[in-house]
Amino acid sequence: MNALNCLLPTMIIICCLMPGPHNCVALPRKTSCHVHDSIADCSHLSLSAVPQNLPSNIISLDLSHNRLKSIPPVSLSPYPGLCRLSVSHNSITKLDPGLCQALPLLQTLNMGHNQVHVLKKEDVNHCTNLTWLIMASNKLKLQGEPFSALQRLQVLDVSLNKLQSAKLGTQIQLPNLVSLNLALNDFTTLMKDDFLFLNNSSSLLVLNMSCVPLKTLESGSFKPISGLRTLIMDGSNMDTQGFSELCSELSATTIEALYLRKMKLAKLTNATFKALQNTNLTYLDMSHNDMVNIENGSFLWLSRLQTLVLSDNKIKQLNKNTFQGLKSLKKLQMTKAFVKKDAPTIGHFSFQPLSALESLILQRTAAQEITEHTFTGLTSLKELDMSWSSYSSLRNINSKTLVSLAGSPLRRLNLTGTAIAQIDPQSFSVLRNLTTLLLDYNFIKQILTGKEFEGLDQVEEIYMSNNQQTVHLKSTSFVNVPNLRVLTLRKSLTAEAVNLDPSPFSPLTNLTFLDLSNNNIANIREDMLKGLANLKVLKLQHNNIARLWKSANLGGPVLFLKHTPRLVTLQMDSNGLDEIPAEALRGLGNLRNLNLSSNLFNRLKDTIFDDLDSLRVLNLQKNLITAVRPEVFKTPLANLSLLVMDKNPFDCTCETMLWFVTWLNETNMTHVPGLRDQYLCNTPLAYFNRSIMEFDPLSCKDMTPFQTLYILSSTAVVMLMVTAFVVRYQGWRILFYWNILINRTLGFSDAHVAEGWEFKYDAYIIHAEQDSSWVERRLSPLENDKCKFCLEDRDALPGMSQPASILDNMKKSRKILFVVTETLLRDPWCTRFIAQHAIHRDIEANRDSVILVFLQDVHDYKLSRSLYLRRGMLRPCCILDWPVHKERVPAFHQKLLMALGMTNRLMD
Ligand SMILES: *[C@@H]1O[C@H](CO)[C@@H](O)[C@H](O)[C@H]1NC(C)=O
Ligand SMILES: *[C@@H]1O[C@H](CO)[C@@H](O)[C@H](O)[C@H]1NC(C)=O
Ligand SMILES: *[C@@H]1O[C@H](CO)[C@@H](O)[C@H](O)[C@H]1NC(C)=O
Ligand SMILES: *[C@@H]1O[C@H](CO)[C@@H](O)[C@H](O)[C@H]1NC(C)=O
Ligand SMILES: *[C@@H]1O[C@H](CO)[C@@H](O)[C@H](O)[C@H]1NC(C)=O
Ligand SMILES: *[C@@H]1O[C@H](CO)[C@@H](O)[C@H](O)[C@H]1NC(C)=O
Ligand SMILES: *[C@@H]1O[C@H](CO)[C@@H](O)[C@H](O)[C@H]1NC(C)=O
Ligand SMILES: *[C@@H]1O[C@H](CO)[C@@H](O)[C@H](O)[C@H]1NC(C)=O
Repeated sequence: MNALNCLLPTMIIICCLMPGPHNCVALPRKTSCHVHDSIADCSHLSLSAVPQNLPSNIISLDLSHNRLKSIPPVSLSPYPGLCRLSVSHNSITKLDPGLCQALPLLQTLNMGHNQVHVLKKEDVNHCTNLTWLIMASNKLKLQGEPFSALQRLQVLDVSLNKLQSAKLGTQIQLPNLVSLNLALNDFTTLMKDDFLFLNNSSSLLVLNMSCVPLKTLESGSFKPISGLRTLIMDGSNMDTQGFSELCSELSATTIEALYLRKMKLAKLTNATFKALQNTNLTYLDMSHNDMVNIENGSFLWLSRLQTLVLSDNKIKQLNKNTFQGLKSLKKLQMTKAFVKKDAPTIGHFSFQPLSALESLILQRTAAQEITEHTFTGLTSLKELDMSWSSYSSLRNINSKTLVSLAGSPLRRLNLTGTAIAQIDPQSFSVLRNLTTLLLDYNFIKQILTGKEFEGLDQVEEIYMSNNQQTVHLKSTSFVNVPNLRVLTLRKSLTAEAVNLDPSPFSPLTNLTFLDLSNNNIANIREDMLKGLANLKVLKLQHNNIARLWKSANLGGPVLFLKHTPRLVTLQMDSNGLDEIPAEALRGLGNLRNLNLSSNLFNRLKDTIFDDLDSLRVLNLQKNLITAVRPEVFKTPLANLSLLVMDKNPFDCTCETMLWFVTWLNETNMTHVPGLRDQYLCNTPLAYFNRSIMEFDPLSCKDMTPFQTLYILSSTAVVMLMVTAFVVRYQGWRILFYWNILINRTLGFSDAHVAEGWEFKYDAYIIHAEQDSSWVERRLSPLENDKCKFCLEDRDALPGMSQPASILDNMKKSRKILFVVTETLLRDPWCTRFIAQHAIHRDIEANRDSVILVFLQDVHDYKLSRSLYLRRGMLRPCCILDWPVHKERVPAFHQKLLMALGMTNRLMD
């Protein structure tokens, strides 16, 4: 039973290291030795011989977990520089005498877990440089003085060898031995002369006799090793009598640390440690002993003890005499030392003798109550850890609960997981020196008014996470803890707890770490972090603040980060965010770590990250990002050491992915985990579900000629369209200038021609098609010998193109008469081409030859737009209105004739 207890951990380890399909640890199977820095690892390769092809300069060779049956020295002769050799977990039956001759520099040799049987002096005679020899778990049968040549040996492990005696030799030997492991052997008696062979080993400090079924200890058996400092007796089956004998044997040593775990020491009496009273014992571990009873005065003798471990026992009660005498004790570790089902009691003043105690660990313990004297007398206590304990007094902490700590300079109080439901005002007010208060994993359900923390002026860290989201805040919640640097409220607050004005955090000017994650917070005020200029870490993940950053948010996006310019870490993952306002991350030049994963980001605005030039870690995993564009990502990716952006539906086209893929390929300082198999293209179909790294950048380069072609052809189309439009709307102008050009080059100008021209017509009539009837009815009758009009329809020159004919006729006319109607102004051909020529002729020839006859009232603006004429440009007599009243028609005719009869020369 006992041996099984001891072996179990060993067996688990063995199982974990064993090769094969039942391997507990998922190691990648290697197929050959790994060599790195002169160290060769040939473990787990099913080798049956030493590989001969390794570099000859290796200094360390691991051949463990193979199928070696022997190690012939010649097989190691290629590696004469070996200092370390492990052949553990093989089936070697013999240590070859030539081994150390072949390896003169060998210092450490591990032959554990083999079948070595007989070991003789000759086998290790040449191993004089050996400092470390592991022969654990063999079938050692020692013959003669096998270790006597090992003058430099410091560590010798012969555990688990079924040795029948601790006597490893008769001669005095091993002068430099520091640690001897005799654990898991079968001897039941320690004889007086068993350790005599170590008589000169003044450096021996550690002796391990765990799981040795010692029954008898002869007096004086530890005398040869009286320089011992550490003795490990875990799992040894000793009765109270035997243990007392052990203590008396140790009384003559310089023992400092005793490991007495799993020894079934159910009871300590006031005599148990008596023999140790003159030793310098400073460390005593008695955990896992199922200890029930500690008699009063049991530790009276251990006045120099500094650390006492009593974890995992079943202690029934503590009283004011239990720890008597432990006046140097600094640390008392009592995790699970008394458990609820044993209904333990902690009496008044139980810890009073421990005036030097600095750390009291009562993790996972249980007791009825904490009274006003439970911790009295702990005048040096700095740390009290009661986490995951069950004390009914802690359910509702009030100003009396912890009053017994009033005399302690307590700095750290750990009340994690102690089922606290309510904290009354001034509960901690006696803890004036407290800097750290841990209240995680409780059931605190109340409004924090601030009075709860009264007196905690020195407190710098309050941890209050995982409190069932039932903590309400007020603006005053933290007014009494102005020095707070760390505040965690993860999964503790109600959804509206921080939506207060002024913000509950406003008194905390020194705050550097604020955790508000997992609270379903939906409303944050822009001023929530105002005044927190020192804030470095802000955790807001797993809330519901998507609305705050939407541009559609009433009153605009809430830019709550504008008050925290020193932010180094920002976590906002899992918030349903789909927008980052352009200004949201402005000024965060110190930000190194940004986590925005598991949101709904798709298209991010340009330049939102441009101020983040210190960014080292960026996490955008699990969003809806399709494109990684340089406009957004160039700055934040510039100095990154870790990028996590997998599980996005990437669009693998040249426009969206080329830049990113090129960057990924070129970057040599950014670690991108899972790049090959977690960054997959979603679109286009050709790349669906393939790694973005399979996206071929060359396909974009091949596009270049096509792109040029595309640009050229689109340009051509655009130009064609422009030309068409120009021709459609400005064609007249082109024709106009063309005609002028032709006329000029042919050598005559209008003016020149005009000088001696016999005008064939008195006026050239320009009118809209619809107005021909008016012209016919009203103007044609005016024609006679002295007055002749030119009407294009009638007088066009045969055999000439229309424009040429128009120009020719115009030249032959003294005046040009526009019959102005809306229709005329709308006819582009008529107005633009003809009018332009007319006006051009008018200006060029310096003549005053235009007459306007308005049949309708036309706005001057329209006139100027269509005919490039304004009424004011002409003499008043050249502007005529067709009269509405019939009786005025003769007057109109008169005016018209006058206008026609006027000389064309302005100078005349
Ligand atoms: C022990 O190692 C030293 C170098 O550290 C070497 O010079 C010496 O020869 C070795 N001794 C033996 C017996 O091989
Ligand atoms: C205990 O320690 C003191 C000082 O460290 C030393 O002088 C004394 O010899 C030690 N006693 C024993 C029994 O080791
Ligand atoms: C140890 O306990 C016994 C009774 O159990 C008592 O008679 C004796 O005085 C105690 N010794 C010391 C040193 O306290
Ligand atoms: C408080 O107790 C918890 C739970 O035992 C532990 O994980 C944590 O490290 C302790 N914290 C401190 C500061 O001692
Ligand atoms: C604890 O606080 C008191 C004043 O409140 C101070 O005098 C004392 O030095 C502090 N002790 C420690 C260990 O900080
Ligand atoms: C904040 O920290 C500074 C410097 O560490 C300190 O002087 C100051 O007292 C602290 N407390 C407050 C409330 O500012
Ligand atoms: C990555 O770079 C190498 C050369 O530096 C080049 O051969 C390869 O095509 C590039 N791959 C991608 C995906 O850009
Ligand atoms: C990374 O590559 C750049 C050139 O692309 C080079 O200047 C720089 O030294 C490299 N850095 C490391 C750590 O290899």
